[in-house]
Amino acid sequence: MHHVTQLRDALAKQDSEQAAKLTRLLTAASKRQDMTPVAFEEMRQGAVAVRARLGGELLTRNTPIPHDRESGAALVRIVFPDDPGGLEPVFPPALAEAVRDLLAEWRKLDRLAELRAAPHLRCLLYGEPGVGKTQLARYIARHLDLPCVEARLDGLVSSFLGTTARNIGVLFDFANRYRCVLFLDEFDALAKARDDAHELGEIKRVVNTLLQCLDAREGRGFTIAATNHEHLLDSAVWRRFDARIKVPKPDAGARAQILEGNLRPVELDGAARALLDWMTDGLTGADIASVASAVKRYMAVHGEAGGSPRMYPAMLLAALRRYAVMNAKQFDPERVDALTGSREALDKVLVGAGLNQTERAEILGVSQSTISRSARSPGRSRKRGMNGQS
Ligand SMILES: Nc1ncnc2c1ncn2[C@@H]1O[C@H](COP(=O)(O)OP(=O)(O)O)[C@@H](O)[C@H]1O
Ligand SMILES: [Mg+2]
Repeated sequence: MHHVTQLRDALAKQDSEQAAKLTRLLTAASKRQDMTPVAFEEMRQGAVAVRARLGGELLTRNTPIPHDRESGAALVRIVFPDDPGGLEPVFPPALAEAVRDLLAEWRKLDRLAELRAAPHLRCLLYGEPGVGKTQLARYIARHLDLPCVEARLDGLVSSFLGTTARNIGVLFDFANRYRCVLFLDEFDALAKARDDAHELGEIKRVVNTLLQCLDAREGRGFTIAATNHEHLLDSAVWRRFDARIKVPKPDAGARAQILEGNLRPVELDGAARALLDWMTDGLTGADIASVASAVKRYMAVHGEAGGSPRMYPAMLLAALRRYAVMNAKQFDPERVDALTGSREALDKVLVGAGLNQTERAEILGVSQSTISRSARSPGRSRKRGMNGQS
């Protein structure tokens, strides 16, 4: 598969039609890989093992959910495994493999027992906003075939300071009663509450309640917490988790995959891929999803209707210009300046980013001779090797 990808990338420069065919083939192949009977059977085995191990009552759409006694606000939101899940999260290989193993442990419970070990039951996800923590928590729950009981602690804590501890107790009682994944999103709200607190005693009580609840949940169910501010967490709370997973921003491969998923059915033509690679470098998954929507919006307004939707480099550049103007804060100022400034300035930046002469000519909508006159191109990309061989 890797070699086909290389071939596709090499072809992209000469024969975009053939390259597009290979892209479709690769996409189909990767889908088949996800959906093979073996993978499905493994997932089912995992889900059966989770049920056997965790016990608890069946949580259904008719199960009454807990509410705050005074305000009547719901304390949880439940996402069921068959709810429409959106796209799957894409991570750099090391994290993707770790997540796969985390799910695979549930198929090896017997072996784990022989080794006197237990599967992971409490995971903390941390990382910048928009890197896919919430999406990952739901993905794990879906793959264990369990409902995801989501509590946003910021709502639970800040709005009802006087009754926070009680609400946390109610929340855990609910989660412990049913077979589910308990997902504590915005987990740092507890620590933040400590700074905002007018009454220190209350906050101590809240943190102690949380620690007790986490301890009491030991072995009762799967718990996932997520935070954008891991440094704010109490060290005692931090220690309660047996996996503390840093969710990073996407690497180049993950960025390309997130783009492809979010752009579908739009396909990228020729140098458009290289332009987007430059544009999305350093962005989070959420930012990339929003770039993709903006590109589609631009295409709907300015593109031709009918036919297979292809995004050509010059139109992509126009779409990205528009996006950069409207979302300048997402990018470093140089990138915004390059996009919105003169063609020569952008060309220079693209040279620096490793785009070759052909790619730049396509993007800027000029002939290659114009490009070679305006910039002394150092030649082929650092990133992608000479003549497409890497
Ligand atoms: N790693 C990723 N892979 C695919 N899509 C992502 C990724 N990270 C973020 N996204 C997109 O951004 C959206 C918001 O991500 P989210 O899970 O809420 O981030 P976080 O919880 O870390 O703030 C997701 O629904 C998805 O569309
Ligand atoms: Mg989130």
